[in-house]
Parts: sequence; structure tokens; C-alpha cells
Amino acid sequence: MNLVAKTYAGLEDLLVAELEALGAKDIVKIRRGVTFTGDTKLLYKCNYLLRCATRVLINMKVSEIADEQALYDTVYKIPWEEYFTVKESFSVDAVVVSDVFTHSQYVALKTKDAIVDRFRRKYHKRPNVQRIEPDVKINIYIFQNTLTISLDSSGESLHRRNYKIHQVTAPLSEVLAAAMLQLAGYTGEQDLLDPMCGSGTLGTEAFMLKRNIPAAYFRTHFCFKQWIHYRPEIWEQVVEEAQQEILEPNGGVIICRDKQLSSIRKTEQNFEPFEEFGGLDQVITKRKDFLRTEADQPYLIIINPPYDDKIEVDDILGFYQEIGTRLKHKYVGSTAWMLSSHFDALKFVGLATSQRIELFNGALPVKYMKYELYQGSKKEDKPTNEL
Ligand SMILES: C[S@@+](CC[C@H](N)C(=O)[O-])C[C@H]1O[C@@H](n2cnc3c(N)ncnc32)[C@H](O)[C@@H]1O
Repeated sequence: MNLVAKTYAGLEDLLVAELEALGAKDIVKIRRGVTFTGDTKLLYKCNYLLRCATRVLINMKVSEIADEQALYDTVYKIPWEEYFTVKESFSVDAVVVSDVFTHSQYVALKTKDAIVDRFRRKYHKRPNVQRIEPDVKINIYIFQNTLTISLDSSGESLHRRNYKIHQVTAPLSEVLAAAMLQLAGYTGEQDLLDPMCGSGTLGTEAFMLKRNIPAAYFRTHFCFKQWIHYRPEIWEQVVEEAQQEILEPNGGVIICRDKQLSSIRKTEQNFEPFEEFGGLDQVITKRKDFLRTEADQPYLIIINPPYDDKIEVDDILGFYQEIGTRLKHKYVGSTAWMLSSHFDALKFVGLATSQRIELFNGALPVKYMKYELYQGSKKEDKPTNEL
């Protein structure tokens, strides 16, 4: 099968590495995704194990089309009845970047018509169209005159790992959190500190990484389970093999702190599903104002502070400056990473950066900055214009 794993901009290289580790072939990096080839088992493994993918698609057809009639004909010719029956509901998502086709909704409608007509002509019955939680999701992508039709094997985005009981105002996506940990070189060995943990996404994803818990361990719904060709015995094999690879408690501690007690409670509750794995004594949660703390040892620190958008901050420049000062004076010997969309405020951190990575947090462009906290890492003149 020709497969595509989708991700967020900036995470393509991590996804390539994950796919290589799973044995995918013909790997090619594309914008916000990776194409590759593989069999049914690999498709199931990707859905169960990839930490940096948001969904996995099967490419069913790539074709040059001149107009809407050609779109209809191409979709109509695909043997949809080999994939699902009239009992399953379906939806069509269309993305169109074209001078010829300009309305993505019309493209989606034409596609639905072609699929419904094919079923009706064959069985005198039609499957229902359902936007929310359909059984089968079909993706249409038109770039100029090139039509790509794919079947979404995942359904709901894979960042929905299904372990989070509680959200906070600006939670990280689980996919982004897993990526941030890997970009920071987190292996599970280091002592990790998330001083502004919110709902604890970095902590829970770190726990999954260090114990090699499958990314979709708590998820039960995947679209491929509704397909006619679904092979439960292969799925069970994938699950069983992956569960045998789960590691015993090991490595460093995971410290989640926040100045709000409500965040700490939510983080603790979000860790509850992980009780079955043991080792939660390696997770330390505590209410603390970061600006009043100091390190008793070196940590790998990852900070996702407020950006003064969803969570407002009175003096955002002063706040980031205080974070920098605290890191510099009280966390010597640690390595810190900070993710923010407030680029002016990041300049006020006033620490030399040893790496900067441009990413997206949802629709927001963000910078992920690395600071090595050795004596003298604070810049003399602040703010710097080095971003
Ligand atoms: C953007 S949210 C973090 C979201 C988190 N990464 C998640 O996935 O849920 C920022 C958090 O920083 C916390 N915070 C703000 N100022 C703080 C401070 N001085 N010390 C500790 N926590 C702070 C807020 O309470 C909020 O929970």
C-alpha cells in the first residue's frame, strides 16, 4: 500500500525516524507528512505506535483531472464497496489548492455524490453521510489538476491518546509534547522538570516514552476497524507484540509543577490511567511558583509558559525576563528548553540560545529555544535581538 503519515509542520524529520524504526519502505518526506509503503501490519503499527503522527492515510488514487465531471468519474470508478458497506457512515474532507477547482465544499459534495451513486446503482441502497465521528473518512486533495484520493485509517486525530481526563486553558497537543521531548533529547534517563505543567501533557508523554508505552495504548477507535478488510488477528498481534516491549520502571524522575493547585490536580488525574504500569512514584507533582524555586541538581527543563494570548499575563516581557534570570542563577548545570509564540518576550529571556527550532502550536507559529545553563550564560545586555 502507498501510505501517508501526517504531522505538524516542523516534525517531519522525527516522523521519518519513527517510520524507519518501524521498518517502513520508500520513505519520502513531504510538507507536514511522510509518504512510505507498507502492508496491513505496518498500517496498524503506525496507528498504534507513532508518537509524532496525527493520522495515517492510504493513497488510493492519484490522477490528473480537467474538470468536475472528471472528478466525479474518477471517484465513481473506485470500488468503494470493497472497503465499506451501505451500513457504514462516511464523510469526505476536501482540500483544494487549484486555479481550476476553487470550492473545496463543492469538491467534497461531488465526491459524496459519486460514492453514493455507485452504491445506489449496485445495491439500490446508499451509505449515510455523517460529519461527526463517521465510520469511514475519505480525503480529497487537489493540487492544480492533480487529484489524490485517500482513505483515513485513523479517524480522530492520533494526538487524542484517550488518557486525558482533564484539560486546562492552553494544553499542548500530545503529538507536539512527544516531539518536544524527543527534540530536547529526552531518553527517559534524565531527571525531567516541567515547571509550568498545566494539565501535565509533557509529563504523561515523557512517562509513555520512557516506559515505551504505545502512543495509542488507551485508544480503541480507529477507522480501519470499520473496513471490510479489517484483520482483527493482525491488530491483536500488533497490540500484543508492542505490549511485550513495555519497559519496567527505569531512569530518571518526572517532575511536574505549576503555580496553580487546580493544574496540579488535573495533572495528577491525567496520570491515573497509568497506574496499571507501576512506577508512578517516579512522577513528582507539586504546586510551586517557578519564580521562587531553585534546583537541587541539574535537570532537563522544558517550559511551556503562557504566551499572553489564551492565558493573559500582566507584564509578559518582565515575566519572561524573570524566567531567564531564575534559570541563570538558580538552575546552573541544567539544560532548559522553552516553547513560545511570543517572540518579543522570548528576547527578554536574555540567555544565549544553543538551538532554535521553528514549530507550530496549533495555528500559532512558535519557537522552541534551547538554553545551556552554565555560569555566565546570561547575556550582558538585554533584550537581545538574536532570534
Ligand atoms: C500554557 S500553560 C501549560 C500547558 C501545559 N503544557 C499542558 O499541556 O497542559 C502554562 C501554565 O503555566 C502556569 N504558570 C504561569 N506562571 C507560572 C509560574 N510563575 N510558576 C509556575 N507555573 C506558572 C500556568 O498556571 C499554566 O498552567
